[in-house]
This record gives sequence, structure tokens and C-alpha cells, in this order.
Amino acid sequence: MIDGSTSPYLVLYPDRVAAAYRALGAALPGARIRYAVKATPVPEVLLALAAAGAEFDVASPGEIELCLGLGIAPELLCYGNTVKKAAQIAGAHARGVRRYAFDTADDLRRIARHAPGAEVECRFLPATPPSRTPFGGKFGCAPGEVAPLLTMARDLGLVPAGPYFHVGSQQTDPAAWRIGLEQAGRIAGELAAAGIPVRSVNIGGGLPIPYAEPAPGLAELGAVITAAAREHLPPGTALVVEPGRALTGAAGELHCEVVAVRIAPDGRRWVYLDVGRYSGLAETENEYIVYRIATERDGDPRTEAVLAGPTCDGDDVLYQCTRILLPVTLRAGDRVRILDAGAYTASYASVSFNGFPPLTVHVTGAEREWVQS
Ligand SMILES: Cc1ncc(COP(=O)(O)O)c(C=O)c1O
Repeated sequence: MIDGSTSPYLVLYPDRVAAAYRALGAALPGARIRYAVKATPVPEVLLALAAAGAEFDVASPGEIELCLGLGIAPELLCYGNTVKKAAQIAGAHARGVRRYAFDTADDLRRIARHAPGAEVECRFLPATPPSRTPFGGKFGCAPGEVAPLLTMARDLGLVPAGPYFHVGSQQTDPAAWRIGLEQAGRIAGELAAAGIPVRSVNIGGGLPIPYAEPAPGLAELGAVITAAAREHLPPGTALVVEPGRALTGAAGELHCEVVAVRIAPDGRRWVYLDVGRYSGLAETENEYIVYRIATERDGDPRTEAVLAGPTCDGDDVLYQCTRILLPVTLRAGDRVRILDAGAYTASYASVSFNGFPPLTVHVTGAEREWVQS
């Protein structure tokens, strides 16, 4: 049994991660599934996915060392972060990493110099609808730049894999992948004209999970993606999918506690939890992700509340525009569970903001071992 006295803490269920992996495999038959380690870089999660046959998208030397330290083969890793230093590429290459993503000629030259002979994917910015947590313009070249850049990759002695796009995290519009694949198909045509066969198309992550708002399921998304790939890509092109949230989001629950409840001078009821923006709930920024919340008084009448975290920072407010209904009887000391909080929580928690420790993570082998509060 997990000792609840150390609230807050995240409980992760690797069995659920493995089940999500199988569901995605069934929705996208034949696709290579490359888990985005950043979502939940927890050893038991990585090992469960390695056992299931996953590849791994790593964003930094730290994530590379984490995977290799667990015995994951370097051939299974792809350095997917397009923002990296020469020394980081050289370090990755020295550790056996042979796959890289890039989106500029500059990064490509660095890869050619420090990871000679590597396989490269060129990330472009797709013209897709915004997701719940969008990347904005931070990553990706223009679609028209991909073929010239991958031609340059070949001329630099690298192995061009193909185009790569990411439709933004928690993307709830299936059309986003259709649009991205149509663009990737056009790029494949340009590459063919340049004498470069497309080995794979990386359709990124972004697969959503239901939070307070519903989201399309994996089967529906898989059908859209499979149909679009068949329509737009050359026959035999491998699909790579790079999920984080869809594999680990529903595999975790964040257990926390009410610190205080008050009616503020603004007349609103404020509920303060012992977990907040800086201890794991970073994705509540701009109220992008609205988690489902369970309390031990859920049978009681509910009214609106502003939900805030425990630090002295004015930004540490989870929801004040989104309408959150909580039991009127809620009071200090009550236990609260933030549901579907397995992704982008523990990995986002600060090391010591206001002196609060990083989020504790408990991993449980089987659902039945966990007795819910
Ligand atoms: C390069 C890359 N790949 C994959 C992912 C995973 O995205 P998601 O968790 O939305 O599936 C991310 C998330 O930020 C990413 O940056």
C-alpha cells in the first residue's frame, strides 16, 4: 500500500501504458511506435514499453543516458529534438545513437560532422489546426524546404529517412493528420523526383486522451491516418508515430490534498491544493489541459471554485477562467485525485520552487495492489 502521508504524489500503472501501446498498435497496424520519453521518463514505463517493442524519441543527453542505463539499445533511440548543440550530437553519436531529426541546414551540417552516416528525418511545420497545447512556430521548416534539405543530407553522406511533422500535443481534430500526410505525400513526390526514396514518414505525437473534454479515440484516429497514408504516400512507406501522452496520460493519477478554502475579496471561492503549476501541473498554463478532478465528497452539491496551487507565486493558479465545480463541503485536509495525470506531470515538476520538492512518483505493478482512498 502506498503511504498517503507524503501528499502530493503521482501513482503510475505501467500495465496501463502497455495496454495503450497495444491499442495504438491495433489502431495503426504496421506503424513503428516511438515513445516520446519526455512525457513520462520513469524507468518502469520505459521498460514496459521496451518489452512491448517500442522505439524511443529522446530530447537530450539526459534522456539518452536514462534509456541506455536501462539496457535499451541505442539503435532504438532517435534524437528527435531539432534544437541541439554540436557537443550533444557528438555525445549521442559516441553512445551509439544513429537517428536524428533536424529542421535547418545548420543543424544538418552539425549532424553530418558529428554523427557521420546517421539517418535523418526532416521536420516541417504542417498547416494543421491548433492543438490544445500548440508548438506555435518553434519547430519545423517550410514544407518546400524538406526535399532540398534531405537532398543536402544525402550529399553530406547521411541517410535521408523522410519527412516528419507533429500536429501539436493533445490534437483533437483528426483532420490534422490528414493535412500533414497530404503535405508529406507532396514532399515524397519531390524527393522521388530528386532520386531519393522515402523510407519512412514520421507523423509525430499529438494523439489526444479524454480529459474534462472528450477526445477522439485511437481507433477513429488510426482509421483516418491509415486512409490518408494509403491515399498520399508511396506504397510501402513505413509510418513512424511518436506518442507521449496517448501512452502514459491515462496511466497515472495525481493524489493531493486541500490546503485551504476561502472566499476571497473577489467574492469567489478559492480552493488551494498542495500541488500546482510548479509541482507537476504545468500543462494547466493558459488552462490548456483541464483535468478531471475527484474528491472524497463528490456526492455533495457542487459550486464553482477557483483552483490554485500552494506556492507564493501569483501564476500558480490552475483554473480561474474554466468553470470548475467542486463540492461545497470541501475543506482543508480533504484528499483529491487529479485523473489521467500520467503524462507531462512528474517530468515538469520543479526541483525546489518555494522549497517544495519534486513530485514523488509511485509505480504499482498491478491495479489491485492500489487501494483507492
Ligand atoms: C519531438 C516530439 N515528439 C513527440 C512528442 C509527443 O507528443 P504527445 O505527447 O503530444 O504525443 C513531443 C511532445 O512535445 C515532441 O516534442
